Amino acid sequence: MADSERFSYEGLFSKNSVAVGGRGSAPRPKYDFAVAYPDPETLPLDGLASSLKEALDREGKDLAYYPDPAGLPSLRRLVAEKLTRDRNMKVDQDDVVLTSGSGEAIGMLIQALTDPGDVVLTEEFFYLGTMRQMRRFGTDVVGVKCDYEGIIPQELEATLERQAGLGKKVKYLYTIPTFQNPLGWTMTLERRKQVLDITRRHGIPVIYDAAHAFGVTVNSQPIGTFGDVTMFSFHATKPFHTIEGGCLVFADSGLKAKFEALKRAGCSIARSPADLGLSLKASLKR
Ligand SMILES: Cc1ncc(COP(=O)(O)O)c(C=O)c1O
Repeated sequence: MADSERFSYEGLFSKNSVAVGGRGSAPRPKYDFAVAYPDPETLPLDGLASSLKEALDREGKDLAYYPDPAGLPSLRRLVAEKLTRDRNMKVDQDDVVLTSGSGEAIGMLIQALTDPGDVVLTEEFFYLGTMRQMRRFGTDVVGVKCDYEGIIPQELEATLERQAGLGKKVKYLYTIPTFQNPLGWTMTLERRKQVLDITRRHGIPVIYDAAHAFGVTVNSQPIGTFGDVTMFSFHATKPFHTIEGGCLVFADSGLKAKFEALKRAGCSIARSPADLGLSLKASLKR
């Protein structure tokens, strides 16, 4: 199509839209120390191809239907069994929603829990992808000071009191206690207990970004659950991975229904009688 015939979107982009591009489309340097890419030679491509063939032979015809919005039940069961076995998390498949990575999981979580102006506590420096999602939903992000053992409990307490003094209720704490990005530490067990104790006293849920923690042990110890909602990444840039994917794990299964709706429709707004009328009209027209 000639340039003169193309429609120009200049001036039409929403304020929320971000620049197209990013790491995926940039030329690849030989060594990139900003992202933990694995050695491409280590990817088990033959095994992947034969597993895919086996799965397609067995269940390929199911692809004709919409999938379960929470993700493939057998894979959710496997995730739940692994978390129970390795991390003592006591979850079952109904507590797990599969996502395309923890980026999607974080986005859904922030969308589900945040109204513009809501105060959310985080570590003083945290993962850029989450920061962008929080900005997108108008979050008032408040950083809590950390040292090499994690969030400093006295600072957390003082921050909560400061916010209460301003008449603001903190909505939740978002933390990356294992292999914190970008600070690099793993929060000690003692600190995790102290942080949980404070947030419980103040009635604040903990959102645990465990992107780098699936199947990982620290000082030979499996790291137990910490958050009320925990997200894991299975992306190739993480220590234990299936090349792609991620999941949300809920300590409270009641939350899962909300996320199934978000996954299915991108929003969880209840259908009104007017919506029902519209879709009936649309189906009668067909
Ligand atoms: C702390 C943290 N959370 C989330 C993500 C995003 O994970 P994914 O690659 O599954 O989208 C990253 C990426 O490195 C991360 O460091």
